[in-house]
Parts: sequence; structure tokens; C-alpha cells
Amino acid sequence: MNETSPELVEISLIVNGKPRTGRCEPRKLLVDFLREDLALTGTHVGCEHGICGACTILIDGEAARSCITLSVQANGAELVSIEGLAQGGVLHPLQQAFAKFHGLQCGFCTPGMLITAIDFLRVNPTPTEEEVRDAMSAVLCRCTGYQGIVAAVMAVAHASSPAAST
Ligand code: FES
Ligand code: FES
Repeated sequence: MNETSPELVEISLIVNGKPRTGRCEPRKLLVDFLREDLALTGTHVGCEHGICGACTILIDGEAARSCITLSVQANGAELVSIEGLAQGGVLHPLQQAFAKFHGLQCGFCTPGMLITAIDFLRVNPTPTEEEVRDAMSAVLCRCTGYQGIVAAVMAVAHASSPAAST
């Protein structure tokens, strides 16, 4: 490898249920690979330091910050990005709740918020409001004041709790 022609590596993974491949420099960040190589621009880039959470995706089912993950680290993994949440034209329940409870304004943080909420509810399906507030504070939102976000996550948690179906 030299500076003028960097060695490219083969990346092969599953993204939103579909096999995807690409070639990129070993130093390429996963968020850049998603956005530039796979044209999945729904995952946003904010701080690029693992702080703001805008770039959060699911890697093998767990929330991860794609701005501090190299593409090569995700080789062979199964990813879910914001583009994979709606199924058959129907929004994910959390997407519907965010719309209903005004959990977004500019929408910049929203992909990371939704992915974070999905992982949080997987681990803690019956959270208290305080736990939701704590979990969602992992993603920085400069618009909403979080009230609608917390209400949306609580609503989905309540709707899918065993008590809700009795
Ligand atoms: S862009 Fe990844 S955490 Fe901010
Ligand atoms: S909706 Fe604008 S940053 Fe969260």
C-alpha cells in the first residue's frame, strides 16, 4: 500500500435484511461506508466522536455508533439502519409514536433516537419513565426538549407490555 493508491478491502455484510458488498480503504468509518458506498444516508453524522448518537445503528442486534466503528469491523455482520425500520410501507411502531407525540422537529437526531429506543426496549421492555429518560439521553437532541421522545417510547412500551394485551 502506498499513499497514492491505498489498498482497498472487500466488505460484505447484511444491511436491512439484504446482502451488500463494497470495497473501501481499511480506515473508512462505517457511517461513511453506509452513506457513501451504500447510499444509505438516513444514518446521520454529527460529532464523529461517539458522543451525539446521531449515527447509531444496530450491529448484530445491538446499538452501536457507526462513526467510531470501522467498516472492516462490521465485515460479516448484520446491520439495521433507519431505512430498515418500516416494513411493507408501514412505519415501525416507534416511528409512528414519534410522529404522534411530536418526538421530532428537524429530524437530525431521529434515526439515532429510534435505533437507540429499539435497543433499549429490547433490553428493558417495561421501563419506568426515569429509565427512558436516562436511555434517551444517550442521543443528543437540540430541538425537542425530549418530552415527546420520552412520551413516544413510553407509549410503545405500554402498548407492548403484557398488561396492555389483557
Ligand atoms: S456522529 Fe457518531 S456519535 Fe456523533
Ligand atoms: S429533532 Fe432536531 S436535533 Fe432532535
